[in-house]
Amino acid sequence: MKKITLVYFSPTKTTETVLNTITRGLARSLEISGSEITAVNFTSPEIRETVLAPFDGNDTVLLGAPVYAGRLPADAADFFKKLTASNTPAILTVVYGNREYDDALLELKDIASACGFIPVSGAAFIGEHSFASTDIPVAMNRPDENDLKQAEDFGSNTGNLLKETKDLKKIAALKVPGDFPYKDGMGKGAPDFIEVTDACTNCGICATVCPSKAIDAENGFATITADCILCCACIKACPEQARLMKNGPIKDKAKWLNETCSTPKPPQIFFATAS
Ligand SMILES: Cc1cc2nc3c(=O)[nH]c(=O)nc-3n(C[C@H](O)[C@H](O)[C@H](O)COP(=O)(O)O)c2cc1C
Ligand code: SF4
Ligand code: SF4
Repeated sequence: MKKITLVYFSPTKTTETVLNTITRGLARSLEISGSEITAVNFTSPEIRETVLAPFDGNDTVLLGAPVYAGRLPADAADFFKKLTASNTPAILTVVYGNREYDDALLELKDIASACGFIPVSGAAFIGEHSFASTDIPVAMNRPDENDLKQAEDFGSNTGNLLKETKDLKKIAALKVPGDFPYKDGMGKGAPDFIEVTDACTNCGICATVCPSKAIDAENGFATITADCILCCACIKACPEQARLMKNGPIKDKAKWLNETCSTPKPPQIFFATAS
């Protein structure tokens, strides 16, 4: 194994942070560095139009995405399904907002296997909930220092497992929680849940970070609700705090999550057994 590639979707960047930290431990264990480590952040719709070259036995690939309604975001699942691999170990990570990850890690494992990857380890980490704000701080400041320490250890332990494994094809199948048929996921389309205030300076950053081309720059940077995936990247990226969550069902959901999912959950980590 000579190369590490990170392939991820991460509108509000918690998945990105976790994957980068896992990679630090993995790269140290496998003694891979510099230009042999590359990242494909397919959050932007333009990157999702590209087709990646097939991965092979020289590659180790980290696949990562947030959990949306207990599943992978549909855009992330669709991109992962286009990957092809042969004799390539995959490290699977989902990041969720301290409610549950339900079937998301199983879905990622099933997609990775169907693409030809050999899943060798999997993890569910906690990230600040996309719906969180200072008033409604659901899983605020996760991943924290302890999460990141565990992420780095997860990476180095996966590297050690890969070094011990003589024949990847004989590795015992990775087991992760989840049920098939999976629970219903979410498609595109959101309630009108964002207001743009007079503080907007027309800088355009929100439209740049939107993974769904759901912001109308010609119309006061209003949200095109039919295309919105509720990711809240635009709210978090606005430098003027001019995009605010309106009162309504999404804010009510955030309040409910803050009340019912307030006990911090620990990361969960799974390994296949070396042969
Ligand atoms: C539409 C939507 C649905 C979500 N569903 C869940 C969920 O089912 N369980 C959960 O714990 N967190 C859920 N979250 C929270 C995200 O999984 C969490 O905030 C994650 O850290 C976001 O990753 P990112 O920063 O890489 O975008 C949801 C977030 C959004 C936007
Ligand atoms: S990021 Fe904020 S300030 Fe910039 S255009 Fe969007 S709403 Fe306006
Ligand atoms: S408009 Fe919707 S999809 Fe686009 S960044 Fe904002 S919340 Fe996410």
